[in-house]
Amino acid sequence: MTANIEIQNVTKRYGSMTVLDGLSLSIKANEFMVFLGPSGCGKSTLLRMIAGLESVDEGAISINGERIDTLPPGQRDIAMVFQSYALYPHMTVADNMAFGLRNINVSTDVISARIAEAARMLEIAHLLERKPGQLSGGQRQRVAIGRAIVKEPKAFLFDEPLSNLDAALRVRTRVELAQLRNRVRSTMIFVTHDQIEAMTLADRIVVMNNRKIEQIGTPMEIYSRPASRFVATFVGSPTMNFFRVGLSAQNGFLRAKLQDGTELQTAIRAIGVKDGEYSVGIRAEAVKLANGVAATTTGKVDVLERLGDRTLLYTRLKDGNVIVAEDIGNSRVAIGDEVGLILDGTRTHLFDDAGHAWHNEEASHG
Ligand SMILES: Nc1ncnc2c1ncn2[C@@H]1O[C@H](COP(=O)(O)OP(=O)(O)O)[C@@H](O)[C@H]1O
Ligand SMILES: [Mg+2]
Repeated sequence: MTANIEIQNVTKRYGSMTVLDGLSLSIKANEFMVFLGPSGCGKSTLLRMIAGLESVDEGAISINGERIDTLPPGQRDIAMVFQSYALYPHMTVADNMAFGLRNINVSTDVISARIAEAARMLEIAHLLERKPGQLSGGQRQRVAIGRAIVKEPKAFLFDEPLSNLDAALRVRTRVELAQLRNRVRSTMIFVTHDQIEAMTLADRIVVMNNRKIEQIGTPMEIYSRPASRFVATFVGSPTMNFFRVGLSAQNGFLRAKLQDGTELQTAIRAIGVKDGEYSVGIRAEAVKLANGVAATTTGKVDVLERLGDRTLLYTRLKDGNVIVAEDIGNSRVAIGDEVGLILDGTRTHLFDDAGHAWHNEEASHG
């Protein structure tokens, strides 16, 4: 049982405020899709519209070719897991899981079998007779997921289910969710503002911002080829370095000149790029210490962040701009050092003044 979900031109308003503006996207059967974006961008609203907890003002939502946005939530065959767990406090774990099934007259035998199976999968069999008040946050979250699993829905919707857990438990539950995903073949939509959750769990990510979809792609597409400056900024840590540049062409590829005079030979074809203001983005991992090799540019280290496996060097260039470079964990660099840097021009991203990214394909299509 699985669902292909089509969202066509969906608009949502609260009073005079438009919170989603003509969104379209297609979620494949069995896909793990993540809606990623900053707080307030409309992720929960979109999820709740799929679940039937919010009305659709314009557009349509279909599952396996049938329109569902006019159906009541109970008839959509979808299960939702909330950040707040929403368990009944006076009922045992088993009764919490059975409740929705009893309501639709599933037989006692089937209910028991499904609860046993879900409890085994989530390793909560020993908790079935407890009440939610006797469980830890992580255990409650599993029960909430178990309650969704026993419904055997066509699709699971998760609204920031990990955000109430502490850091360590969050990581563990994330891994468990990835494992669960391999056992339960069903479409899953997962909402988060956390780019690491999105990168680690998703088959594809929908990056949302400001009422709209910024980009839809696999985690590596989003990371390697961000469609906009917003996506480039939102995904990846530390955040991408950006510099205002002047552009020229050399051997058919763009050459970008930074304000400190540094010239970078990019891998972006110099075709179809109109006149205007441009910025290049380059991630810290593409900015390394020159260590004696001819440097692209030089600067003075202002701040040094040791992350254990690598060290981030916040380096002030001659023009006053700061670039974050990456060095080994055991970096010998000290604050105040003058360092030579090598910027890998082939790993740069180009953005126009509207924040739209220029990639080779677009450029060659003119
Ligand atoms: N019931 C509501 N009434 C009015 N405004 C709402 C309501 N629910 C959400 N909003 C607004 O809609 C926007 C999107 O909210 P939401 O979907 O919860 O964002 P997200 O889940 O991405 O943080 C926000 O500006 C929020 O304040
Ligand atoms: Mg939300």
